[in-house]
Formats: sequence, structure tokens, C-alpha cells
Amino acid sequence: MKIKVGIFDSGIGGFTILNSLLKTRKDVDVIYLADTKRIPFGNKNCKEIRVIAEEICSFFEDKSLDAILIACNTTNACALDILENNLRIPCFDLINSVSEIVNKKIIGVLATQTTTRSSFYKNAINSKKENLKIFQQECPEFVSEIEKDKINFNKLNYLADLYLRPLLNENIEELILGCSHYPFLPKNRFKYKNY
Ligand code: DGL
Repeated sequence: MKIKVGIFDSGIGGFTILNSLLKTRKDVDVIYLADTKRIPFGNKNCKEIRVIAEEICSFFEDKSLDAILIACNTTNACALDILENNLRIPCFDLINSVSEIVNKKIIGVLATQTTTRSSFYKNAINSKKENLKIFQQECPEFVSEIEKDKINFNKLNYLADLYLRPLLNENIEELILGCSHYPFLPKNRFKYKNY
């Protein structure tokens, strides 16, 4: 018997997580919600994200799900409690899961404006490991560029430089892509090959 899993994001970002799930599990049926009408989430404040989270719960309410995989860091950061309380099924918490596998001392986090300002990553990591240096960088323009039909490599290169420079200046040893859209960034086209 298959497990019915709900996955949501503001757009295509959650496909990065969906792909990983489908590679490792054959026993899942997935309902994927892309809230493209309200993308980007990352420039909205936490209060607005919490209202969106309520509506996402209403969408999934009658879908007889066994679990929810939170594929949006921004919603995870602002409204995990709403998802857990309203849906009352296991909610796989993206940020806390990522925080578990940090294993270096100087960490960089690239994330949306709202995730960064919530400091959810920083707090989650600090609650598990001691004496780490964590540097967060918000990337307000990445998501809308990644969602475009035609990727503008020059613009992405410029933005990558802009957003990564402050973290590289801190000599980070590990980088968290704290937004599910970012694994779509075409790494080999960028000047920095090792992030
Ligand atoms: N992909 C989502 C995240 O992980 C939301 C990005 C957005 O819509 O700004 O935060």
C-alpha cells in the first residue's frame, strides 16, 4: 500500500525535494501544491505567510494524506506550528532536518528574506550544536529569476556574486541552500565553482 504525501511550495522549488523523495521511495503517492498565484513567498512577512499556511492546510484537509513534506523553507520558518496543529498528521520539518546534518564550524545560509529574518535556521542549528559561527544572507531576487522561462545567466551570475561575497568573506566552510529553489541554480555556469 502506498503512503499519500502532500508537498507544497510557492512554485517549482519543491520539485527539488519531490525529486529526492521519488528517487528514494517507490511507495509514495504525491499531491503537489504550487501556489504560483502568490509567488514569491520569501518577500512576504511572517504574518502573511501564516495566512497562506492556513489556506494551504484547507487545501490539503480533505485529501486523506498520511504526511506532509514541507518543501518551502519560508513557510517552515514562519508557520510550522500552523501546519502541525491544523493538519494533525506527521509534518516533515525541512529546516530542522537540514540542521541535523551540519558538520562544520563556520556555516553560511542562503535563504529568502523572510526565512533569514526569522533566524529559524540559526536557532535550529544552535539548538543542536555548540560553538558554531553562522552567517545568514538573504537573496531577495533569486526566486523570481529561477522561475523565469528563460534563465538570464548574466543576472544570476551577478546576483550569486552579490549574495555569496559576504559569506565567502567570512570564510564559510559549509553552505546551506536554505530555499528549495536554489538547487536549480546552474552551478557550473557560475564563477565560483565550489559552492
Ligand atoms: N522555495 C521556497 C522556500 O524554500 C519559497 C521561495 C519564494 O517563493 O520566495 O523558501
